[in-house]
Amino acid sequence: MKRAFVTGITGQDGYYLTRLLLEKGYDVQGIVRRTSSMTRRRIDQLKDEMPECADRITMQYGDVTDAAGLIRVVMELEPDEIYNLAAQSHVRVSFDKPAYTQSANADGCLNLLEAVRLLNQRKPVRFYQASTSEMFGGLPETVPQSEQTRFHPRSPYATAKVAAFHHTVNYREAYGLFACNGILFNHESPLRGENFVTRKITLAAARIKEGLQSELSLGNLDALRDWGYAADYVEAMWMMMQQDDPDDFVIATGVSHSVREFLEEAFSRVGLDYQDYLRIDQKYFRPTEVEQLCGDPSKARDVLGWEPKTDFYQLVQLMVDHDCEVAKHERLYEDIRGQVEARETWR
Ligand code: NAP
Ligand code: GDD
Repeated sequence: MKRAFVTGITGQDGYYLTRLLLEKGYDVQGIVRRTSSMTRRRIDQLKDEMPECADRITMQYGDVTDAAGLIRVVMELEPDEIYNLAAQSHVRVSFDKPAYTQSANADGCLNLLEAVRLLNQRKPVRFYQASTSEMFGGLPETVPQSEQTRFHPRSPYATAKVAAFHHTVNYREAYGLFACNGILFNHESPLRGENFVTRKITLAAARIKEGLQSELSLGNLDALRDWGYAADYVEAMWMMMQQDDPDDFVIATGVSHSVREFLEEAFSRVGLDYQDYLRIDQKYFRPTEVEQLCGDPSKARDVLGWEPKTDFYQLVQLMVDHDCEVAKHERLYEDIRGQVEARETWR
């Protein structure tokens, strides 16, 4: 049985990648940060969905900023494949927390590469780094972006990811490690964090429809993103790790849409006009914006045989459908709570 070690296992991609690896028969080991409240919603959901595989997921406390801890755990577990998904992944937040973002996203990768280098002296191990389209910066002359496009990072998040990208290439060249970068464009799902724009929109549309929310505050609606489905994208991560030679790949759909289009599409799916509920709030704008991302995934198609299976419209639909169910449950809960409170007031 192959063993995979996954950092960032509690995140969106952690859920989909772990699900894929379990389906392929892997033993999956992950690290989770110690927090005062237990937040493992996605992994708990996965264990409920795949009870027959639950004993092949193991988690222990760890943090990518703790180099000594990473070396200990990697040397103890001796995984065959390591996927570094851990990051402070919110671009807007990175402007408020630049030093922490650098530490988790750049130094974290370097810490893990050192552990990989040590383990590789004992047994072969493969390394995947979660690189990102944000590294390109979205300058108009660079569209569509491919593996050849120069980087022009426009946030502390992106500068840290550029450093991690180069650390990964350098360890590959200096030590002959099997280390690859997946340069993934935006990918979303019903399990996307609620403060990323797509999920914020689909949850709002569903909650407004149920009478649970009255407006939606957003920032820049003109930014263009190449949005794909996370479940499709984790397959590309795994495929990169099965190649004879390590390399870097752009993973994208090749089609971009604006935030406004996503908004229109999501609200129209629940029969609403977004303009009746939208409020523009300056706090959601970024000091420097990435205006246009659109990837060229031809290398992934030609070398890996990877293609996206889900288009923009299917993605919006599946997220809206999921969040309508969430909102219906919230509404039911609100109704029951209201009835209990009414009864208590009457007493
Ligand atoms: P996510 O949902 O925000 O998950 C991030 C994960 O990293 C969480 O499990 C988080 O743990 C963990 N983490 C954060 N800081 C850590 C630390 N210091 N030590 C250990 N774990 C830490 O992000 P995602 O969407 O799944 O993305 C996965 C990776 O792909 C990230 O590196 C992201 O930057 C990159 N990426 C994402 C996209 C995209 O569109 N989704 C595109 C390109 C690249 P907690 O649960 O404790 O917070
Ligand atoms: N989050 C957020 N919230 N974004 C908003 C809002 C809002 O209220 N209003 C407008 N936007 C715009 C942002 O300015 C940005 O142009 C776009 O919506 C997408 O924002 P996010 O969903 O936060 O994603 P991102 O593109 O900044 O970053 C995501 O994709 C990267 C890959 O390109 C993250 O997942 C990164 O971790 C990932 O690397």
